[in-house]
Amino acid sequence: MIKDPIKSAEFVISNTVVSKCPEPNLPEYAFIGRSNVGKSSLINMLCGRKSLAKISGTPGKTQLINHFLINDAWYLVDLPGYGFAKISKSQREKWQSMIKSYLSERSNLVYTFVLVDSRLEPQKLDIDFIGWLGKNGVPLAIILTKSDKQSLNKTKSNLARIIKELKKTWEELPPVFISSAETKEGRDEILAFISHWNDQFTT
Ligand code: GTP
Ligand code: MG
Repeated sequence: MIKDPIKSAEFVISNTVVSKCPEPNLPEYAFIGRSNVGKSSLINMLCGRKSLAKISGTPGKTQLINHFLINDAWYLVDLPGYGFAKISKSQREKWQSMIKSYLSERSNLVYTFVLVDSRLEPQKLDIDFIGWLGKNGVPLAIILTKSDKQSLNKTKSNLARIIKELKKTWEELPPVFISSAETKEGRDEILAFISHWNDQFTT
């Protein structure tokens, strides 16, 4: 049997401000996307742990910036989702300033994974968010989630539509992965991608 690339995964800290995040001396990868898209589930799937990150059927479960230390060598960060209807304007603004300052100021952030539901055609909110990352020079990759919920053909046709939409504004397309927290589809590819970038990391 091939050795699992994840030897250890532990929760480190939750907080609302970049200044209180762990020392930025290890490579870091953040997970962002709509509420309920499956960010926390994907982190658990990648780590091979059932309940490292908190999951819920109700959108809005993750509220803070959550750091997980993997193999004592790199961080995964679970972020609260966007597009959650049932929050006040002031909460939404708080979210925006927390997330946007984290994403633009965190010096060791190697890649931000933007999660998109594989069952949906391109959503304006996602395209806008991806555009914001691009404008701010935040390296991003796209992960389509919940692929187990439908046929591969349907996933591929939604992916083609997302790519078509991105091509309107992007010269070079970001890397794209297809994933499922249920079947573990995408795990090897995403972990190989992270491992590749870990090897390039310098402080
Ligand atoms: P917030 O923290 O609220 O922003 O949500 P999140 O993006 O972290 O989503 P979470 O991982 O909590 O998952 C939301 C719901 O989707 C849960 O009921 C999960 O069990 C379900 N889910 C997540 N990923 C998958 C998947 O790959 N396949 C299936 N079938 N269900 C999934
Ligand atoms: Mg979550």
